[in-house]
Amino acid sequence: MTTQRLTAVTLFLLTGICVPLAVSRAQKPDPASSRVVPSTWDEEALRSVALPLASTGAPPEHISRDYYYRMPVRPIYKSYPIYAPGREPAGYFDHLTQLEPAIAFDPATLKTEADWTAAGELAFDAPIAYDADPIALVKLSAVRNSTWYRRVGVPLTNDGVMPYARYVIRTKGTVEVGNLACGMCHTRVMADGSVICATGHILDTLAWILA
Ligand code: HEC
Repeated sequence: MTTQRLTAVTLFLLTGICVPLAVSRAQKPDPASSRVVPSTWDEEALRSVALPLASTGAPPEHISRDYYYRMPVRPIYKSYPIYAPGREPAGYFDHLTQLEPAIAFDPATLKTEADWTAAGELAFDAPIAYDADPIALVKLSAVRNSTWYRRVGVPLTNDGVMPYARYVIRTKGTVEVGNLACGMCHTRVMADGSVICATGHILDTLAWILA
């Protein structure tokens, strides 16, 4: 992945998700009725984050605020942990193939500060691509194959979970690997097998994803 693409992703993330999360944490105590969702796509603010261009040949242009707010909201489906081969509970994957799709993120059900914090974690782990998408980096065929784990050396938790991606069911009977959630790059497995959300020095994570 090129630096330019990563920079674009990061900018989108900083403006798109981090700001609402930061603001929602600041408003405590916070009855749902008084919650103010901040405006995300602020054209003036976007212009102010751009550095002077080295070359003016192809100036970047952001989508308009009007277009941003007309885009459909991406659904966040319920997701399930991916176990390494040999670590999966008996019957786990077959069970997933029997499940109906379910929406995990529904603002109508979020009442308390704790609800919103938990929903932020859902958004952090929400994928933006699936197996068939060309930008998907990790596919079902890989995560079900022990050779892939040996080849890329992906770290696992103590429970044998590969924590950088999760199974998602958007259609009953089709289990997909959700890709490019924030957590795919910003998850780190520590030496003791625990998992943290990491922002700095994440190149060790990216190294196995791009392997
Ligand atoms: C494809 C990989 C990738 C994905 C997906 C991704 N990021 Fe990042 N992100 C990066 C990289 C690379 C950096 C720069 C990290 C560094 O310098 O150590 C970064 C930096 C950041 C930073 C700045 C961290 C700092 O210390 O300054 C934040 C905040 C951040 N990302 C949030 C997010 C959020 C929120 C999402 C999901 C909406 C997300 N990222 C998805 C790769 C990714």
